[in-house]
Amino acid sequence: MEKRGSFGSKLGAVLTAAGAAVGLGNIWRFPTEVGTHGGAAFILIYLACVVFVGMPVMVSEFVIGRSTRKNAIGAFRQLSDNCFWRNIGVQGVGVAFLILCYYVVVSGWTLFYGVSSLAGQLQGARDYEAFFHDFVGSWWMPVVAALVFMLVVHWVVVRGVKEGIERASKVMMPMLLLIIGLLVICSFSMSGFPQGFDFLLKPDFSKVNVDAVLSAMGQSFYSLSLAMGGLVTYSSYFTGDTNLMKTSFSIAGVDTSVAILSGFVIFPAVFTAGVSPDAGPSLVFITLPNVFNMAFSQVPLLSYIFSGLFYLLLFLAALTSCISLHEPVTAYLSEEYGLSRRRAAWVVTSVAGLVSVGCALSFGPLKGLLIGGMSLFDLFDFVTAKLILPLGGVLITVFVGRVMDRRLVEQELSNQGRLRVPLLRVWLLLVRWVSPAAIVLVFINELFG
Ligand code: PFF
Repeated sequence: MEKRGSFGSKLGAVLTAAGAAVGLGNIWRFPTEVGTHGGAAFILIYLACVVFVGMPVMVSEFVIGRSTRKNAIGAFRQLSDNCFWRNIGVQGVGVAFLILCYYVVVSGWTLFYGVSSLAGQLQGARDYEAFFHDFVGSWWMPVVAALVFMLVVHWVVVRGVKEGIERASKVMMPMLLLIIGLLVICSFSMSGFPQGFDFLLKPDFSKVNVDAVLSAMGQSFYSLSLAMGGLVTYSSYFTGDTNLMKTSFSIAGVDTSVAILSGFVIFPAVFTAGVSPDAGPSLVFITLPNVFNMAFSQVPLLSYIFSGLFYLLLFLAALTSCISLHEPVTAYLSEEYGLSRRRAAWVVTSVAGLVSVGCALSFGPLKGLLIGGMSLFDLFDFVTAKLILPLGGVLITVFVGRVMDRRLVEQELSNQGRLRVPLLRVWLLLVRWVSPAAIVLVFINELFG
């Protein structure tokens, strides 16, 4: 049996877990949501959701992972004899696997756009809509892109927790933050910056309705990568002196900052080019290449650099998230079935790679293959993000807030009595009442809204 991994430093642990959270959701989905729900008012509601719903769930996952130091399935098995609760871990690892299968497809797109942008193919005025559809509709390009991406993920995971995942995060996360900083500085020079700035920072409360609140909650949950086994698994590698509450603040802080900064990159460009800020998910792959060209029409070199950096940013964000989806499944196979880490990682890479081919083709040759009216890609997204994740979130909060031995929870949060936990009562209140109720509302809205 191989020795169990652990993170080498607290900074490494924070950067790795923040890498799990920071993903395409921050750069792609968050600005789209802000755009559709009226700007700054949505951001304020989002912040409240992160603090009152997301962070309590995150800390609950940390308590489970670090108190057992096991993979997500082993952890719940150790904490409960009841088969209902024991199955939360199965659900977490299962959903990580399913998300990996389709997340890697869009991640492959970021790789393709990164390479195309370096090759100068995203330069000048051209039909970017046709460019996108030719790519995703091809029978081989999105497949190769997804599989190459998966091999990069494999290459990191197979090297282990400290030497692979932590080391890669310590390089990639600072790089990601630097790139986003550079992009924000570049966007100061765009003529649409004041408008973009106003849109992001002046709240328009007339746009706030139930839908905006529930969307903000759903987005915070998705963005923090909750309820999918990743954070339980990562926290099982935390050292005994990691302060769980403080760590959750840092992770939520980095995640939210990247999301808001992405808004400062995207909206000034969008207003400069005169495009509507609620262009939807096609924003990143169809609208933005055009927008970058228009925004820097006087200096083509700047548009080349700007778009290259932007797609590199997307690539890095997608990579750290995919690693956090691969690792819970690899850890489970290796710890519960005694496989070597290398072998376990290969099983995950090959099976998920195979399934991802179906998802990659669902914008082209397999477009007509509909299950319940949805393409394979949409089906995976719906079942995981809309059904299983919220359900997992409720179960985790109920388990930690009501089922788990309260003393064990307190000991874990206080590092066996060595730390003061001034927010313990508030946290318990949130985990017992506020978070589960809020998640149930999002769930109902997503299903029937
Ligand atoms: N948190 C990631 C993002 O914001 O893109 C998305 C994500 C990854 C969600 C992994 C869920 C998940 F299990």
